[in-house]
Amino acid sequence: MAYTVTLIPGDGIGPEVTGATQEVLRAAGAPIEWEVVHAGMKAFEETGEPVPAAVLKSIRKNRVGLKGPLQTPKGKGFRSANVTIRQELQLYTGLRPVKTLPGIETPYTDVDLVVLRENTEDLYAGIEHEVMPGHVISLKVSTRAAGERIAKWAFEYMRYKGRRKISCCAKPHISPMADGAFIDAFQAVGQDYPFIAQDMLPIDNLSMALAMDPMRFDVLLLQNLYGDIISDLCAGLVGGLGVVPGANVGDRIAVFEAVHGTAPDIEGKGIANPLAVLSSGVMMLEFMGEQKIADRVNQAIWRVLEAGKKTTGDLGGPANTAEFTAAIIEEL
Ligand code: NAI
Repeated sequence: MAYTVTLIPGDGIGPEVTGATQEVLRAAGAPIEWEVVHAGMKAFEETGEPVPAAVLKSIRKNRVGLKGPLQTPKGKGFRSANVTIRQELQLYTGLRPVKTLPGIETPYTDVDLVVLRENTEDLYAGIEHEVMPGHVISLKVSTRAAGERIAKWAFEYMRYKGRRKISCCAKPHISPMADGAFIDAFQAVGQDYPFIAQDMLPIDNLSMALAMDPMRFDVLLLQNLYGDIISDLCAGLVGGLGVVPGANVGDRIAVFEAVHGTAPDIEGKGIANPLAVLSSGVMMLEFMGEQKIADRVNQAIWRVLEAGKKTTGDLGGPANTAEFTAAIIEEL
């Protein structure tokens, strides 16, 4: 039986890296039929909408999607296409596993942490007013319900994955109500999970500690903006944005995507690293229960990384996107 999966190729390097991912998954025998829909700049140019209704309809129907990065049209009234998809589908958990990979030179050799980012609230609610010329207010939204929802998801994820310690990081001294509510929700839900170690750390302390000793962390639970920033920092610990995968997960739907954006500086050059989106595709296979195929793809990736001769420039290798992709397929 084939799964129908929504594919959003995306903007910038999106079609290059999602195309490479499709090639590898096909070669691995993943039973997937792609339903291709467009969002972001491409969709806006064609339909006037950054996220046409057909995109949400397709994902709601298939429940699983793989997505390239999206560019949001500039101008008043446009909410980020990514935020729209996450909020409309209530994909409230941003899941980003950050792990040291073989063959990639980095300052640390054993990073293995998971960033969990609350995906639906915070400054991403997009509520800003100019109350008078030169005075802008931007609202940080934080509800107890959303805090409890992601905390529950986080603890259940840890129980399932055998993860041991969770750190909830925010800035409650500066934002006692919004950040305080998030931490209160975390502590309340955490009472049901006494077998999982729990701590709280100011977000600025976390940044320093991650730079100095990332191995001491296991799972990080963060609000939306902190999660966005810390995800990129963590990507830097294991080889950069070209390697870190992700998923946006709700109760019924999951959309898999890399942490990186459209990378306009390298668009069309054929040199983008496809690994982040490919690894998001591997996470998707695991999510669908296709563990064996996921393992095969992972092993092929690791062998190519270990050999180090056919990786893309961001990882220090000489290959372009097509050559890196072909090397992984050859290993399969
Ligand atoms: P970016 O992640 O696109 O690029 C940052 C740097 O990383 C660039 O130098 C880029 O060349 C490099 N890079 C990123 N992915 C790479 C890959 N796969 N292989 C090799 N190098 C890679 O971030 P930036 O420049 O801040 O954002 C560009 C656009 O992407 C913006 O329009 C932004 O809104 C959008 N964006 C979309 C996201 C999404 O759809 N989930 C996430 C982040 C940004």
